[in-house]
Amino acid sequence: MNPYHIQNLEHYFQVYRHSVDAPEEFWQQIARENFVWQKPWDTILNWNPDTAEVRWFEGAQLNITENCLDRHLETRADKTAILFEPNNPKDPATHITYRELHTRVCKFANVLKAKGIKKGDRVCIYLPMIPELAISVLACARIGAIHSVVFAGFSATALSTRINDAKCSMVITSDGSFRGSKTIDLKGIVDEALQDTPSIENVLVVKRIQSEIQMKEGRDYWVQPLVEQASADCPIEVMDAEDPLFILYTSGSTGTPKGMVHTTAGYMVYSSYTFKNVFQYKEEDVYWCTADIGWITGHSYIVYGPLANGATTVMYEGVPSYPDWGRFWEIVQKHKITQFYTAPTAIRALAKENLEFVETYDLSSLKVLGTVGEPINEEAWHWYNDNIGKKRSPIVDTWWQTETGGIMISPIPFATPTIPTFATLPLPGIQPALMDEHGKEIEGNQVDGRLCIKFPWPSMARTIWGNHQRYIDTYFSAFAKKYFTGDGAFRDATGYYRITGRVDDVIIVSGHNLGTAPIEDAINEHPAVAESAIVGFPHDIKGNALYGYVILKETGETRNHDNLRKEINQVITEKIGPIAKLDKIQFTIGLPKTRSGKIMRRILRKIAHGESDQLGDISTLLNPEVVEAVIQEAL
Ligand code: PRX
Repeated sequence: MNPYHIQNLEHYFQVYRHSVDAPEEFWQQIARENFVWQKPWDTILNWNPDTAEVRWFEGAQLNITENCLDRHLETRADKTAILFEPNNPKDPATHITYRELHTRVCKFANVLKAKGIKKGDRVCIYLPMIPELAISVLACARIGAIHSVVFAGFSATALSTRINDAKCSMVITSDGSFRGSKTIDLKGIVDEALQDTPSIENVLVVKRIQSEIQMKEGRDYWVQPLVEQASADCPIEVMDAEDPLFILYTSGSTGTPKGMVHTTAGYMVYSSYTFKNVFQYKEEDVYWCTADIGWITGHSYIVYGPLANGATTVMYEGVPSYPDWGRFWEIVQKHKITQFYTAPTAIRALAKENLEFVETYDLSSLKVLGTVGEPINEEAWHWYNDNIGKKRSPIVDTWWQTETGGIMISPIPFATPTIPTFATLPLPGIQPALMDEHGKEIEGNQVDGRLCIKFPWPSMARTIWGNHQRYIDTYFSAFAKKYFTGDGAFRDATGYYRITGRVDDVIIVSGHNLGTAPIEDAINEHPAVAESAIVGFPHDIKGNALYGYVILKETGETRNHDNLRKEINQVITEKIGPIAKLDKIQFTIGLPKTRSGKIMRRILRKIAHGESDQLGDISTLLNPEVVEAVIQEAL
């Protein structure tokens, strides 16, 4: 049976076993039989665990857009590749066929070339969820430029940090974006970001909201007239397997955001393989992932994975609540969506609303439901299963990360029996291990541990842009020769995995990965703040929300504290973006610290959770007396 398309549970076990016994042979077969190559590889895998250097399919040459576009022109030219659903339900949806997408990507790629972009240059893309976002991503890939997509909800400071880290020479943006009933001035944010980004030479601007914006002579250009004049003939740039395809930033527990580098061949093979199997994609399906292309989910499962499989992939510009909370289901009915992939935070928000928003629509086209980004709680799982899937559509709880490039642990629909809150079994090629705090692997079942991956897989991030040592320190130093995910997991009696959450200082808020350090740095920039510490606490819809403990410079601070709370959130919005705003701020006289001066977040977390009676032994702290004060303030 074909390993590229898993048919049932027995087939899964058979394929999985082969992928562990002979990983190189396994991936070689997948790569050879399902993609087009300009030149085959010389070696399948080169792996040096000591230096954390991984190379897949070395010697091979290819272009991912040939696999996502050109090769479909013979058989699927008139099939819809991208189905664009605009923010306003009164505006018509747009069907972009494979032929049209190919033409638009080629023209866009020629515009990039005409502006001097060449192989290896970094291009920052800061666009809303409009077709030009996918097109510019593919246009970069076509000519070998490395795209760095920055989610268009990030602030000017966050944008400029990312531009400077990757030394991008161009930004692609729009005059603005629609988000529900609001419009957002993206170009204004870009202009602010570009005040301090010496590497930027040009800005391409897509017209979307027809707003008046400033265009800087000699730097800023409207895209549309350039595209109209551009040739539709753009041969692929032939890429080496390990040439970088993109950089995508993710927050760490400390320091600046990490520019995760994904390379061409392995990423293509794995995102495509997992798309096919996790969504059991069939030729006539209409697949919709509600993520933004600014996140890895959008890269792998809106753009590359679906297009490599010749799928129809939906791009939705708006939000779940506009014009009302029935919008998602209206879209499912209208386009007869077959696979629907979203985040637990969206499910929880939708579940809070009246069920009429669901019942008005015909959801019978749905076959597979997916979730990603954070642990899904049992209640949300059942709501999704009962009301959206009508207990007919399997739910795939997909665990993975920006760093992993593709889904790692997930049920295969119609094969793996699902259990609420369990991501279930590793996909073929993925070898998880649970480790104890002494660095020993925990064998057997019914065990909890730190989740590592023992063997390389094709789409793992290869490095952190410009800082390989940080890559080694973050992912390959906690446990010898293993990739450490930063997550904890439980393995049940049958070998199913349940992800229990982060074991480091990353907090997942509404499915967004937020490091505590950058938020604390932002807060500390407020002139009235001396020190701060952030922890997560449970939130009905967001999963986790942020709780900030803030020490003011002057305890006699006379300003109204509520104003100060607003100002602190304002600084966070400016430095990072509104997603990192704090839900609760407690002004405190001190923070519990270890004798080495480390903030004891465990204690702060307990207090924020309302569990101050379960603090355990605090006598070894540097300042145990502070704890009682912090508890009293919280009450
Ligand atoms: O903690 C895990 C959580 O999200 C983290 C990765 O975040 P990010 O790089 O932003 O990628 C999100 C989209 C792939 C993981 O370390 N996470 C992701 N999916 C799940 C999850 N936690 C539990 N269950 C999941 N299905």
